[in-house]
Amino acid sequence: MRALILSDIHANMQALAAVLAAAPEHDIVWNLGDVVGYGASPNETIVCLKELNSVYVRGNHDRACCGLTSLDDFNPVARQAAEWTHGQLSRSRRKWLCDLPQGPVEVGEGLVCVHGSAADEDIYVQTLGEAIDALQAAPSAWVEFYGHTHVQGGFVRSDDGWYVFKPEYTSKHNEEFFDLPMRRGVRYLLNPGSVGQPRDGDWRAGFALYDDVVSVVRFYRVPYDLDRAQKKILAAGLPERLATRLANGL
Ligand SMILES: [Fe+2]
Repeated sequence: MRALILSDIHANMQALAAVLAAAPEHDIVWNLGDVVGYGASPNETIVCLKELNSVYVRGNHDRACCGLTSLDDFNPVARQAAEWTHGQLSRSRRKWLCDLPQGPVEVGEGLVCVHGSAADEDIYVQTLGEAIDALQAAPSAWVEFYGHTHVQGGFVRSDDGWYVFKPEYTSKHNEEFFDLPMRRGVRYLLNPGSVGQPRDGDWRAGFALYDDVVSVVRFYRVPYDLDRAQKKILAAGLPERLATRLANGL
């Protein structure tokens, strides 16, 4: 079984199109949430995703953009984008977002998908302490796939203790991948990276592929039509910051 793992697409259709074009053959998509919000293509993104054979967990932007939760915790830029997205979506697409399930969702034996963490769907897992809490909240999980931070990589607990995992690439311009061989007896908390708004200093769209035959998670970065994504954001009247930040992945 090969699962394509996507997270934090954020209505960036240009990035999603590049990811799907680069993605190797797969049996299913595991989507870790935040399919909309920030980007200028919420309708195209949802139409495209509905064609895929996917398991979802919802993200905080999915909840906010469909009106399921208030925007009180959002900063002004995120709030403006969520309000714009809400206005762009038809009632049926808002309902589709509202119906996305809350994580954690089990996708296989010992495999769990969450948006923030199994402890709290809105938590940002950025430190070792937060990673330990996240794995403790899913005691039967061998691998917990998470999103929300928009940072590709994660945390690994082996017999030697914990370490931070970050894929290593040789450029910031080409399509590349980095393999993480998976071992039983080791526990993993892995983020495939953000498709549509990376925040780890690399502008390229991030995603991952889990292959249970060879027991590897392959992390990818792929270039996409950044210029078009930025122009769409500006043409929509969304905050300029949402366009400029895409250029350096911050
Ligand atoms: Fe997000």
